Amino acid sequence: MSEFRITRTLPEDAMAAALRADVQNGLTSDPKTLPPKWFYDARGSELFEQITELPEYYPTCAEREILAGRSAEIAAALPARTLVELGSGSSEKTRHLIDALPRLHTYFPVDVSDTALEQAGRALVAERPGLNVHALIADFTAALALPHSPGPRLLAFLGGTIGNLLPGERAEFLASVRALLSPGDALLLGTDLVKAEDVLVGAYDDAAGVTAAFNKNVLSVVNRELGADFEQDAFDHVALWDATNEWIEMRLRSRIAQTVKVPALDLAVHFAAGEELRTEVSAKFRKDGVSAELDAAGLGLERWWTDGEERFALSLSVAR
Ligand code: SAH
Ligand code: TRP
Repeated sequence: MSEFRITRTLPEDAMAAALRADVQNGLTSDPKTLPPKWFYDARGSELFEQITELPEYYPTCAEREILAGRSAEIAAALPARTLVELGSGSSEKTRHLIDALPRLHTYFPVDVSDTALEQAGRALVAERPGLNVHALIADFTAALALPHSPGPRLLAFLGGTIGNLLPGERAEFLASVRALLSPGDALLLGTDLVKAEDVLVGAYDDAAGVTAAFNKNVLSVVNRELGADFEQDAFDHVALWDATNEWIEMRLRSRIAQTVKVPALDLAVHFAAGEELRTEVSAKFRKDGVSAELDAAGLGLERWWTDGEERFALSLSVAR
């Protein structure tokens, strides 16, 4: 019989405190910033699912193509009994992997979005009899502890979400991932690749405006949780390619000079006309860079697969 459990490893008051600290620090720094994990309330998770279906947003279909074609090879290389997935969202592409792992005992989807975990977990146990799904509401950038489960362990981090961490955060994150693994366990990592600027910018500034709505949703989260009075219409969505850092940078640009109040923090934040708030980076990678970052964390790159158009890569690296 399959089973679905959901555990909140992150108490709600700790999350509320983290949001307050992030908003306080981010809106009083120069330039202003907000960390990306706050995009994903129920509405944000829904908007992200719509992004994955946009014609311009190629990462999802490129990664799905690789998973559909290579899951048997992945399973042969690492016949996992435990599959952990960080930032699992809808777990939609992960089904290819789950179906290819005959000895799989437990799937642990890990996400900050409780609504995404609930929906994904219930759907999975209904479709896959015999699979245990133990969802963890947790922040993958904070110390993560996993319940006991049989090895070998495969840890998946898909969607190119690793690119949403800054280089220093990435090194720290990969070290913490390595700490969750025993020698011989593996990391399956999805990384979006450097490509033509117009293709990259289009993926983060679609014609239908879904990405703009997603970016602005973070303002609604701050309004709801901290009583702020951000007006979505007073900001423009901006997506820029930074060729030096090789990342897309998402910003919200104030259309006018304005002061936004954040009562829960007793804060008034002034924006000059045209001033930008950085909400997210999405780094793009090359094979050598990925290999070096993994190596520095004690993970040896063993396999590298791309889609037919070489837009996106999936790598398998093994813990030393
Ligand atoms: N893996 C899915 C979703 C990618 S979107 C895919 O490939 O389509 C990024 C996901 O990571 C979202 O579901 C979001 O809620 C989650 N997330 C973002 N920051 C997080 C954090 N710090 N800790 C845990 N989950 C996070
Ligand atoms: N992990 C996704 C990415 O970097 C997240 C994402 C897609 C995103 N579109 C976005 C984040 C727009 C903020 C704004 O591709």
